[in-house]
Amino acid sequence: MPTAASMEKIVALCKRRGFVFQSSEIYGGLNGFWDYGPLGVELKRNVKEAWWRDMITSHDEFSVPAGAPSAFSMVGLDCSLIMHPQVWKCSGHYDLFHDMMSDCRETKRRFRFDQIRGRWVKGTRDPKGRPRVYIMTDADTPEAGLEDTVVRACKFFDIRRKDAETGLVFETPGMVGLSPRDELALVLVPGAGETGTLTPPREFNLMFKTTIGALGGAEDAAFLRPETAQGMFVNFKNVLDTQRVRVPFGIAQMGKSFRNEITPRNFTFRSREFEQMEMEFFCHPDQSRAWYQYWRDRRYQWYLALGLKSERLRLRDHAADELSHYSVGTADVEYAFPFCEPGEFGELEGVAHRGDFDLRSHMEGKLVRDASGALAVELGENGKPRHPGSGKDLVYFDDQSRERYVPHVIEPAAGADRATLAFLCEAYHEDQQPDEKGEPQSRVVLKLHPRLAPLKVAVLPLVKKDGMPELGLELFREFKRAGIPAYFDQQAAIGKRYRRQDEIGTPWCITVDGQSLSDQTVTLRDRDSLEQVRLPRDRVVAEIADRLRG
Ligand code: GAP
Repeated sequence: MPTAASMEKIVALCKRRGFVFQSSEIYGGLNGFWDYGPLGVELKRNVKEAWWRDMITSHDEFSVPAGAPSAFSMVGLDCSLIMHPQVWKCSGHYDLFHDMMSDCRETKRRFRFDQIRGRWVKGTRDPKGRPRVYIMTDADTPEAGLEDTVVRACKFFDIRRKDAETGLVFETPGMVGLSPRDELALVLVPGAGETGTLTPPREFNLMFKTTIGALGGAEDAAFLRPETAQGMFVNFKNVLDTQRVRVPFGIAQMGKSFRNEITPRNFTFRSREFEQMEMEFFCHPDQSRAWYQYWRDRRYQWYLALGLKSERLRLRDHAADELSHYSVGTADVEYAFPFCEPGEFGELEGVAHRGDFDLRSHMEGKLVRDASGALAVELGENGKPRHPGSGKDLVYFDDQSRERYVPHVIEPAAGADRATLAFLCEAYHEDQQPDEKGEPQSRVVLKLHPRLAPLKVAVLPLVKKDGMPELGLELFREFKRAGIPAYFDQQAAIGKRYRRQDEIGTPWCITVDGQSLSDQTVTLRDRDSLEQVRLPRDRVVAEIADRLRG
């Protein structure tokens, strides 16, 4: 019976086989930063390549894809990481892209206010008669940190561990509705000796600041981009003027983004440096609802086609109070990662209907919603735009209908690291398979979609003699010449070599044996079905190429 993935096992496999390492590990690591190892870099490149190919290079602008309102064009872009600071003022990131956080005066640790979770505890034998205390957990949920909570509660209320059941009263798991003023004073932070060490929550902008040039004055401050999206908006006119595209069309970009996350966690899921795969789709306002529906469904299907199972993948529409400042409708593609509590999901991609917010903001100045809900330029004390836009005309002129309008935007915004992690989690399986002697052996297997697998094929001579290695090497080189990532391995028993490949997700193994030398055939083994078929050796490269094309 296959065993489901656990986060610990996936993290351990990533380290053991060179998928993901902690950044700067030899110096103790750097929280929120990760390095992709030799296999991880291939896996993530394949995820990005699949996205780019499906969105851009294989797109046919002359046909109407199933479910789309019309045919459309797609182009790519690769913008600088540092953009003009005004971009972030008009986009809203400068004013609004923040989390509320609290600092512990004693331990010097910093917490996101909405993540201060714990257990409400009273010590019935507390000699000081203290009121309830929120024992804050270091774990992701109050439930997971229960034992730690009990130990720290005993210490705080001066109760022996064996008396915990009679001496402590646990009233509520979680800290729903924690009020900044009163209840924050009752929180006991991990590592602190007393309650009341947390500062009132304050805003913390998530953008990484940097300085341009040698002088380093206030006017030289800039930001590492917190999203790739703005590059597409500020280049809207450049693309229109240089490419033969008409609305509707999309501009796609993938690349690094940086967010100074207060609590990076869950492996690569919430990092401070990560890669996004974003597309801004410009359409006529009257058609924007239909396009929103199209992209929401199409992006969900993309993950299914690459192997995520529908029982762990969902498309969730945001409630009105969850929408970002720019959004008039958003749906998230979410995956039930192993670190999620039962029934909970983590976001893979947001598909947002952004209306005309972005193009208008970059034309007119930062927009806010007025009392009627309409977007209007936010004014400063002097009555002028608080953050002036570029003043450039980003209105679209349709030379066929003679209509002028600001296009609406649908934005499918995905994370390459989160997608990579989800594919890894879905692929991870443990099972028992018989070895060469028929003895059951436990195996870890990554059932990655062949498009995503770092290596597509391994060539394995059965023994290291009788011309088998030479024939194997010839085949290996043929794969390389055909552009198919291949691996040659002649060390250890064949069963062990199969298991090495299964563990890193190689879909096929080619074995060269004694018969290969006499009749020029080899065996082709499938990672998932374990089926082995014999093929003429001169057909095997074409066979793998066919299978990769699906
Ligand atoms: N332009 C819209 C935008 O950036 P977002 O929901 O903030 O929207 C889009 O980000 C995607 O980027 C997320 O769905 C997620 O996959 C990825 N992402 C965001 N923050 C991340 C982080 N700290 N670490 C890893 N991936 C992240």
